[in-house]
Amino acid sequence: MTYKYPLVADTITAEDNIARGKWLMTNPRLTMGSLVKEYESKWSNWLGRRYSVACNSGSSANLLMAATLYESERLKNTRVIVPSAAWVTSVAPFMQLGYEPIMCESDKDNFGLDITHLEELLCEYSPSTVMLVQVLGVPSHMDRVMELKEEYGFFLLEDACAAMGSSYCGRKVGTFGDMASISTYFGHQFSTVEGGMVSTDDPELNEIIFMLRSHGWINGLSPEARKRYLDMYKIKDIGTGFVFPYAGYNFRLSDDHAFIGLRQIDRMDWLIERRFANHLLYKTLLQNYFGLQTFDKASTVCSIHFCALAENEAERNFITSALEENGIETRPFTSGNQGLQPYWFKEYEKFNGKNATRFYECGFFLPNYPKLNEADVECICNATIKAALDFRKGEK
Ligand SMILES: Cc1ncc(COP(=O)(O)O)c(C=O)c1O
Repeated sequence: MTYKYPLVADTITAEDNIARGKWLMTNPRLTMGSLVKEYESKWSNWLGRRYSVACNSGSSANLLMAATLYESERLKNTRVIVPSAAWVTSVAPFMQLGYEPIMCESDKDNFGLDITHLEELLCEYSPSTVMLVQVLGVPSHMDRVMELKEEYGFFLLEDACAAMGSSYCGRKVGTFGDMASISTYFGHQFSTVEGGMVSTDDPELNEIIFMLRSHGWINGLSPEARKRYLDMYKIKDIGTGFVFPYAGYNFRLSDDHAFIGLRQIDRMDWLIERRFANHLLYKTLLQNYFGLQTFDKASTVCSIHFCALAENEAERNFITSALEENGIETRPFTSGNQGLQPYWFKEYEKFNGKNATRFYECGFFLPNYPKLNEADVECICNATIKAALDFRKGEK
């Protein structure tokens, strides 16, 4: 189906593709060339972190964070608090690696971790790790999360896969976690078609991420790091990079993707401005009709979609059908409660957090992308409000 308003739109422009075409005509090296490094350091500079390692998706970035912590030998236990409002691959890496995940209720306002429940779980389980998602670009209560981190001493992993460009009271999301991930999948704040990145300020963690990203080998390490690993395992240096201290992956990003990414970072200010303006307009027009995510006035929201909560599941389903009929692409927020997804409840009990379940049953997404203008947002809001009012009238 062709939509008048698709849920997402590409941020890769015709100019990007023309430039890419010209570059491809020079027959460049398309993988393990120099552009991935350039892209990583440009992102680190933009974000304000010491290191970034690019990879092939946000899911791989999350798996790299979980695997790196596991390999770091810094964990006092394998317990990890995972968010209920999240993406499957915010949670799955911990299950795959043999962590013990404990699900946390979501905050009713920003949909991130519910601080009261988080603290209860920290007291009860003393987990080494907390995974936090900045949900749909709306920052969590980061001042409270960082206070708890200080008090309970856990590693914070920050999934900013759907939140690049947002900031919490002036501080960019992606700078709070010991490691933070982004996704540059099609339709995200900016796109490299497929792609992801892990950023950190910790040199040791960075080294492990770097190795795990590419087979777990020592290839590409600094001479000092290389020597350290070879000495550690008493392996004679015969000049090869084919020594594998870790059982790694191949999650590399190609230089072709990095070429696109380098151009996208230049556009961050515009992308943030447009997505935030649309987000604020949606909020103004819809706030009297639906439950909405809220955030601190000093924060910037670079949202991927705009999420609204209907009064109940039947109303949500009515609205999503009406929007589709009007050529407006939408999606129910079934990721609002990972604990109601089969992959979770096949292993553990269903998670019945009140807020997360409300997001799962009542949440739906509306389009947000830079090219959407004021008139477009008004048109989408009018159709959404009309559908809700029609349903509510019918219920009376
Ligand atoms: C919060 C969150 N984490 C992780 C991912 C996974 O990213 P990717 O699709 O690049 O694997 C997504 C995807 O939308 C996401 O929203």
